[in-house]
Amino acid sequence: MITKELDAREEALIAVAREAGEAARDFFLKPIDVKLKGKQDFITEADGAVERLIIERLKARFPQDAFLGEEGGSSGNASGTSDALWVIDPIDGTANFANRMPHFCVSIAFMSAGELLLGAIAAPMYGELYRARRGKGTFLNDRAMRVADADIQRAIVELGWSSRRPARAYTAMVERVLATGATFQRAGSGALGLAYVADGRTHGYCELHINSWDALAGLLMVREAGGWANDFLAGEGLARGNPVLACAPGLKEVLVAATGVGQANENLKRRMS
Ligand code: IPD
Repeated sequence: MITKELDAREEALIAVAREAGEAARDFFLKPIDVKLKGKQDFITEADGAVERLIIERLKARFPQDAFLGEEGGSSGNASGTSDALWVIDPIDGTANFANRMPHFCVSIAFMSAGELLLGAIAAPMYGELYRARRGKGTFLNDRAMRVADADIQRAIVELGWSSRRPARAYTAMVERVLATGATFQRAGSGALGLAYVADGRTHGYCELHINSWDALAGLLMVREAGGWANDFLAGEGLARGNPVLACAPGLKEVLVAATGVGQANENLKRRMS
């Protein structure tokens, strides 16, 4: 994709992430209808409405582009071969959102020909807009982000959980990570969990399965902030999700060993650096 076309998409991405964040905040501040899609898997009226808003705005400017949205708003060639693909999570951290906790965000990534090029995450209740462009760094509002290397004994690693993997696999991973000397947390938004690694607030994020709309924007931020991440887009990662591990580079070896995620990562270097 030529620079001018990518510039236009970056500008549109930042504007739409900001607008979608404000729309999500408006929903959050009033009573909303909450349903379950599955076990501990929430959906609210805000998810569909915010996804429709994002797609409508982007389609108006880029009618040929393809879309892959968590709430089903997919159209065009929503695969890794697409010339222009937007991957959208209208509300990440939906369980928090549905239970009146402010730790949620809007996450949007843009890919071209299998390459992850742009990402934005809006956390409206915190007044935070995170963004990244491949090769051009990553920012929280106007401040450049860098990962923070830490001794494993002082490290905080977020371990994401969903019912898509057996509970015993999760608890075993928690035990192995604790045995390294790190502590762990689970804050309920994979996208923000990755953005926090990029900003050096935590030192790693791992989850045994996460979907691409939750992970792509944050993964680009970690990479652009000097961090390491596994080859998340390997195989059917875009369409069906994959395990994810992203961390400060000095913790790669110990966290790969403890989580079992990220053994083969040669493809990631090609796709994300
Ligand atoms: C979920 C959150 C959660 C992660 C799950 C995701 P949603 O996304 O990111 O932190 O652990 O894997 O499914 O449902 O809030 O968009």
